[in-house]
Amino acid sequence: MKLGILTSGGDCQALNATMRALVLTLDQKIKNLEIIGFLDGYKGLMYGQYKEMSVDDFKDILNAGGTILGSSRCPFKKMRVIENGFDKVAAMKKIYKDLKLDCLAVLGGNGSLKSANMLYEEGLNVIGLPKTIDNDTWGTDYTFGFQSAIDIASTYLEQIKTTAASHSRLFVVEIMGHKVGHICLHAGIASGADMILLPEIPYDIKAMAEFIRKKQEAGQKYFVIACAEGALSVDEAMLSKKQYKRVVAAREGKSVAFDIADQLKKLVDMETRVSCCGHVQRGGTPCAYDKLMATRFGVEGAKLIMNKDFGKLPVLRGNEVISIPLIETAGFLKYVDAHGELVEMARSLGVSFGNKI
Ligand code: F6P
Repeated sequence: MKLGILTSGGDCQALNATMRALVLTLDQKIKNLEIIGFLDGYKGLMYGQYKEMSVDDFKDILNAGGTILGSSRCPFKKMRVIENGFDKVAAMKKIYKDLKLDCLAVLGGNGSLKSANMLYEEGLNVIGLPKTIDNDTWGTDYTFGFQSAIDIASTYLEQIKTTAASHSRLFVVEIMGHKVGHICLHAGIASGADMILLPEIPYDIKAMAEFIRKKQEAGQKYFVIACAEGALSVDEAMLSKKQYKRVVAAREGKSVAFDIADQLKKLVDMETRVSCCGHVQRGGTPCAYDKLMATRFGVEGAKLIMNKDFGKLPVLRGNEVISIPLIETAGFLKYVDAHGELVEMARSLGVSFGNKI
């Protein structure tokens, strides 16, 4: 059997652990397993950049961060766009056929899984594996990388807390999550942040200031606000996509946390700082839970391949790993439930979500 494998989109912890589990499981059952590793995601498949790999290449990578194959972003919406006469879909199909692959495993998030589904519909034997620190893939309770990112973000917030306390300051700490706020919500709760700002719950700067002033009156000396990268105000939430893009562009590269801090400085009497956790959230060794989940997903992915059950991806439902058709996840995002158990639980502790309730 000849297996093609690629890692696509923003990297995360446990990509290597997932590939290891997939390859080791296949190796147990299949004689003469041949492996083609495509370099830098879909680009490798498009341009025929790959390396022939052996099972040994995957044996010792359980703890390794990043991806041994490299990754890149190839947005789904551009997949069918012919650029400079280059037909990406036709090129990928040709490489797959020329290499006589039996199947292709795509480790990716939302967009990459959408492309994986497209290739399956184009006749290739494709399976997906659900990665992303954002945990926003529809159809699965969990994507590998998420817990490692939470661990890093919550440690970061805790460390900010001690310096915030020493200096009696207010910190706006930016946490990854452009469209969804799962990391920020989980890390915010796990680190005891005073306020959590999510794309799913638009903030009201006056309500935020009022919350802080009341706490100050009650004697609180420092504040930590966990702010998702995609946090937006009540007014911004009412804008069209185009108008909102203009608002973001007007920040000239400065992220939302600076914007919020600037607004707050005018309303509350407190020394204010901004700190961005950034890409370290995707870096380094996966936590044990991610290694476990990556292994579960990888083994299930191998079963799909052995059963020739293509066009699917393993997902976590409750505590069970099952497989569902790629088409069921493709193009949908799993948002934070603004009235869900976690948000309500945090509110019951006195955590603010920056809005009036
Ligand atoms: O998709 C994961 C993610 O880390 C998001 O949380 C973040 O918005 C984005 O990727 C950052 O992308 P890039 O690495 O391309 O700057």
